[in-house]
Amino acid sequence: MRLESTAPAPKRKFGVSIKTPEDVVKMRTAGRLAAQVLDMIGKHVRPGVTTGELDKICHEYIVNDLECIPAPLNYRGGPSQPPFPKSVCTSVNHVVCHGIPSHKKKLKSGDSVNIDITVIKDGFHGDTSKMFFAGEPSVLARRLSMVTQNAMYQGIRAVRPGARLGDIGHAIQVCAESENFSVVREYCGHGIGQVFHEEPQVLHYGKKGSGIELVQGMTFTIEPMINAGKRHVKLLPDQWTVVTKDHKLTAQWEHTILVTDTGFEVLTLREEEEFSREG
Ligand code: MF3
Ligand code: CO
Ligand code: CO
Repeated sequence: MRLESTAPAPKRKFGVSIKTPEDVVKMRTAGRLAAQVLDMIGKHVRPGVTTGELDKICHEYIVNDLECIPAPLNYRGGPSQPPFPKSVCTSVNHVVCHGIPSHKKKLKSGDSVNIDITVIKDGFHGDTSKMFFAGEPSVLARRLSMVTQNAMYQGIRAVRPGARLGDIGHAIQVCAESENFSVVREYCGHGIGQVFHEEPQVLHYGKKGSGIELVQGMTFTIEPMINAGKRHVKLLPDQWTVVTKDHKLTAQWEHTILVTDTGFEVLTLREEEEFSREG
């Protein structure tokens, strides 16, 4: 029987798809558009807004203004998981990741929320998230968010051809643990392209020199989840929402990264960031 698809199978290295220059152009576009959603939503995050309203604003913007597909909507992680019912993830305070937006969840002053955006444009995914605060955060919430963002940046700086996946995880773990915070182990970054979650798994902890070698043309996310208390997490009965077992605060930041000939390119960088797009 003849295969339906006429597209050539992507080239692979160590089981990881290698993007062609044409793929990279599309990944850049998808990444830029995902970043634009985070730029857009910031002014809407304030006390009194519901996460359901934030989802609706993002959905309309993604579909109507950017003409993209919101990848989370109806996404299924596995056979035991119901389809994700909303277009973005909103993870408030002790919610580690995959929080489901709800019109019943009103943000109050001092709340922190991670908004995680994944868009599909021209068949390619861009995936990025950042922390927002409604009103004034506590000193701890601000410090946890800053350390987590910095840990992500240190992970990104470890990306270059010839480096190992474990170098990324090691850099992140050192940043987090030197501040007496802990790294969530059950969830990780991931390869990304025409598929939302593909090889490799990008752990946010590990040993220098371990894991597969990074090769030019690989694209993956780095998205550390860092807890103020212990690292352990719990999955709620909705089969999506992940919370800290001790109900202490958690934070997450995420970028989509390309391995270039000499280092990295951050495909989802926003203008507000004091971090160079390439390194
Ligand atoms: N954007 C998340 C990630 O960083 C995945 C969300 S899957 C969803 O990998 F279905 F919950 F949206
Ligand atoms: Co991701
Ligand atoms: Co994401």
